[in-house]
Amino acid sequence: MALWAIGDFHLSFQVPEKSMDIFGKVWVNHEKKIVKHFNKLVKPEDTVVITGDHTWGHRLDNCKEDMDFIKALPGRKILLRGNHDMFWNAKRTDRLNEMFNPDLYFLQNNYYTYKAKDGICYALVGTKGYCYEGLDTIEHYEKIMKREVERLQTSFDMAVADGYKNFIMFLHYPPTSIGEQESLFTIMAEKYNVRDVIYSHCHGIDRFDDSFKGNVNGVEYWLVSGDYLKFKPVKIID
Ligand SMILES: [Fe+2]
Ligand SMILES: [Fe+2]
Repeated sequence: MALWAIGDFHLSFQVPEKSMDIFGKVWVNHEKKIVKHFNKLVKPEDTVVITGDHTWGHRLDNCKEDMDFIKALPGRKILLRGNHDMFWNAKRTDRLNEMFNPDLYFLQNNYYTYKAKDGICYALVGTKGYCYEGLDTIEHYEKIMKREVERLQTSFDMAVADGYKNFIMFLHYPPTSIGEQESLFTIMAEKYNVRDVIYSHCHGIDRFDDSFKGNVNGVEYWLVSGDYLKFKPVKIID
């Protein structure tokens, strides 16, 4: 009953012009690598959180094959929303959960649970998050970042209201902007004593050190971008 994580499949079965192959060898046939590693590592009773940027399809009808691909992978799949997931209207997550139940679960303004081998039951909380990448104005960055903090707070509040005290936190964006030593997301992680913060979004060797990895102030940070992991999901808990 292990908990695994990986992110950023950037699938494009119905929009082949968006193939990721141009971004380097690691992306060539990356779908096959995903299938190979999942089949080798992930058991049907395991949980895998996939941390966003699932598809280049902008609507449900042109990402159906991508969703079918994820559905066919082993394990209970919980999806987080990435910046490229245009098919997913955050306010209509309940609808996605109705449509894809019980094949896929969508983590947004809700939470899921995971029981580890040692009996500890964790609330899996999360949202897309946001960090400053120099592409937008400070005002726009602050607006989006604060909205994401509110969404994450909602996820925590729901889990706390149901009595959960142990948390694992998922973000699509890194928890800090480049060079930051803390953010509202890391402050929240420390406040709730989360065991792990798991994020992706960073692609290419120049971006892999954008934010925290390893233990910082008692919280374990994991970068799980598909290309960083060479498309092999990482085990967070056994
Ligand atoms: Fe991505
Ligand atoms: Fe992304």
